[in-house]
Amino acid sequence: MQIDILTCLPEIFNSFLNTSIIKRARDKKEVNIIIHNIRDFAQDKHKKVDDYPYGGNSGMVLKIEPIVNCLDYLKSIREYDEIIYMSPDGELLNQKKINSLTLTKNLIIICGHYKGIDERIRENFVTMEISIGEYVLTGGELASAVLVDCITRLLPGSISDSTSALNDSFQDDLIAPPEYTRPYDFRGLKVPDILLSGNEKAIAQWRDIQSIKRTKKNKNIYLNKNK
Ligand code: ADE
Repeated sequence: MQIDILTCLPEIFNSFLNTSIIKRARDKKEVNIIIHNIRDFAQDKHKKVDDYPYGGNSGMVLKIEPIVNCLDYLKSIREYDEIIYMSPDGELLNQKKINSLTLTKNLIIICGHYKGIDERIRENFVTMEISIGEYVLTGGELASAVLVDCITRLLPGSISDSTSALNDSFQDDLIAPPEYTRPYDFRGLKVPDILLSGNEKAIAQWRDIQSIKRTKKNKNIYLNKNK
């Protein structure tokens, strides 16, 4: 899978791309993630990427030319399934959307900054707008890292135990059951004995029950909060 990220803050991605599962997936060529500095596509002398909004307003807006120059360049190399713009007013990200994006081949992700991007980019070039939550970040970089992380970990070969991702919370609308590891007894805090019983059927049943309990509890918290 190919993911091209357009940003004016490329350094944000350094540790993200070179750590843990994302690094392994890149090393294994499961995913090719390329960060493009929007500034490199600005053609004026000062490499300006933002400007004041028309009509007078606070903040700066990312300019159309550098972003579209970058899109033109990428689209001249390959066809893209989606051009995604990370935005707090986009469609809320969930596991279903992530699953469907793992089936695509080539994605472009645009990170907005400051006050946003020139609306003409959204109207004429972007095919999908995604929000990672109902709050506003300083830019789309962290949001795009969340999206890329969620997609990459589902690619075959990214996680060594492929059944692990299938058991994630939300894959079947249920929250994952609790997990424990050694020691069995930490200052009197013990692991549930069923997990040491060796009875696979009983363990699976226990896990299902815990998942359902957790899902119900979380849904109640969510419903009460949003009343
Ligand atoms: N950019 C700023 N806030 C964002 C959010 N909540 N989701 C996606 N992109 C964003």
